[in-house]
Amino acid sequence: MPRGDDIPMAKTIGIIGSGVVGQQLALGFLKAGDEVVIGTRDPKKLDTWKKDAPKAKIGSFKDAAEFGEVIILCTKWEGAENAIKAAGKDHFSGKIVIDVTNPLLFEQEGKPPTLALGFPSSGGKSVQAWIPNAKVVKAFNTITAYKMTNGKFSEGQGDMPIAGNDEKAKSVVADIAKKWGWNVIDFGQIEQSYLLEAIAMVWIDYGFKHNHWTHGFKLLDK
Ligand SMILES: NC(=O)c1ccc[n+]([C@@H]2O[C@H](COP(=O)([O-])OP(=O)(O)OC[C@H]3O[C@@H](n4cnc5c(N)ncnc54)[C@H](OP(=O)(O)O)[C@@H]3O)[C@@H](O)[C@H]2O)c1
Repeated sequence: MPRGDDIPMAKTIGIIGSGVVGQQLALGFLKAGDEVVIGTRDPKKLDTWKKDAPKAKIGSFKDAAEFGEVIILCTKWEGAENAIKAAGKDHFSGKIVIDVTNPLLFEQEGKPPTLALGFPSSGGKSVQAWIPNAKVVKAFNTITAYKMTNGKFSEGQGDMPIAGNDEKAKSVVADIAKKWGWNVIDFGQIEQSYLLEAIAMVWIDYGFKHNHWTHGFKLLDK
């Protein structure tokens, strides 16, 4: 069904990235009844995972980008631009692209990474510049892959910060996050991605220091 003013219940989702993020998000979308193509340069690496996701289709980055009315970008940061080029920039035009990447620089074994980009640059802003006709929304980058589709914590509901230039695209992404149990906080335009990527660094740094990987964020209002 084409995307018009009304957002259809079931969506076609193209996932560019076959790591744990791509796999976990694919499972979340499939569970919600959406159709999923997950893209990789090496389909064989998903043979085992496919047993848990028989309804997922596996293809190239281009197959995923062509298929999805919503596209998820979840490659390693250093491969992100390459993956977009391989997918074909035209396949992103007019579509919602959820940027889950974090621009991380791993320099020392066993030490937390640092951000490869900082204000006024950011990964989200770079992605939007690479595909200017796409509606890029930065989201889901501040939580572990294993919690992305479940915003409920034993201590309450987690916050999911998002940022992007297109209000309607943000409302679609917010709906996805809310269905997965998150309280969504809109941080503004895609330029604000530097804040979301810094929040991700807080998450990562805390994880390394405490060897703890199930935490999430909550902004206390009062
Ligand atoms: N892991 C988490 O819990 C988590 C949480 C929040 C955000 N993130 C962010 O989400 C992204 C994905 O993380 P991940 O842990 O799922 O996997 P990852 O290991 O960071 O990335 C795997 C994906 O990157 C692709 N890739 C690597 N080098 C490439 C290149 N040169 N050209 C094109 N593609 C390339 C791989 O392609 P192939 O499929 O062809 O091998 C694969 O699909 C990262 O940016 C990460 O910072 C991760």
